[in-house]
Amino acid sequence: MTIKPVTTAVFPVGGQGTRFLPATKAVPKELLPVVDRPLLQYAVDEALAAGIERLVFVTARGKGALDEYFDVAAELVASLKAKNKTAELALLEATQLEPGRIVSIRQQEPAGLGHAVWCARHVVQNEAFAVLLPDELLWNPAAPALAEMHDAYRRLGGNVISVLEVPAEHTHRYGIVTPGAIDGLVTEVKGLVEKPKQGEAPSRLAAIGRYILQPEVMGILAAGKRGAGNEIQLTDAMAELIGVQPFHALTFTGTRFDCGDKAGHITANIALALEREDVGPAVREWLRGQLI
Ligand code: G1P
Repeated sequence: MTIKPVTTAVFPVGGQGTRFLPATKAVPKELLPVVDRPLLQYAVDEALAAGIERLVFVTARGKGALDEYFDVAAELVASLKAKNKTAELALLEATQLEPGRIVSIRQQEPAGLGHAVWCARHVVQNEAFAVLLPDELLWNPAAPALAEMHDAYRRLGGNVISVLEVPAEHTHRYGIVTPGAIDGLVTEVKGLVEKPKQGEAPSRLAAIGRYILQPEVMGILAAGKRGAGNEIQLTDAMAELIGVQPFHALTFTGTRFDCGDKAGHITANIALALEREDVGPAVREWLRGQLI
């Protein structure tokens, strides 16, 4: 059986970003920069590197700046051209997507991640699709997370999610896997539970915001069942696919930054700045002075 490549990715970006107030009063958290690129750009780059053609943003009221960001800034381009600012123009061009590749959908109520994904059902239709949570910056330039998952998906079919071992005291923050057979980085998924209580997690393998899913998950989400936090949880809908379709977890081998968290966002800025030729040396020098 040949497995069709995945070409659609859904980005749930409707969250209010309350952890970053007051900044997020006017700026969507997905546009907060990590060095000089918005957080969302990293997830978009990762999706494009995996061969994704259609990008679906599930937004919400007050997040119009996201549409602005992906639009052509005609006045800015004209003024940069007039000033002969070629480097800046090249930056804009490199992040510009062809017309028609982006679909923007409003999630009309904050009813959970599962609900956000379900809002994209008419675009996804009857094909496997990816979901990327942009808060999770999965940094692995040599082997981007979704591309690795896509390779695994071509071999395994079914559903593939990205996971990482987290400390036992953090399992209550995540969707946690009940592991089955292990083959290198691939673990068979026997069960999934969203935010298990302290001490009740079936393992320390946590879902870290990257999913390749079969479209049948949309039918399950349509039932609108509420789970943890009284929200419609993607994890609960995925759990219903286990045993019906192949379901695997792929362990991520790069560096993960939880940019939904202030410390994680600051760490990502420092780590990625240190890798850069332009700002790296100055940041490194300052850090050295702080740590003596
Ligand atoms: C969501 C998912 C959870 C996953 C996590 C990864 O939770 O529901 O299963 O482990 O993202 O960041 P949230 O962080 O939105 O509460």
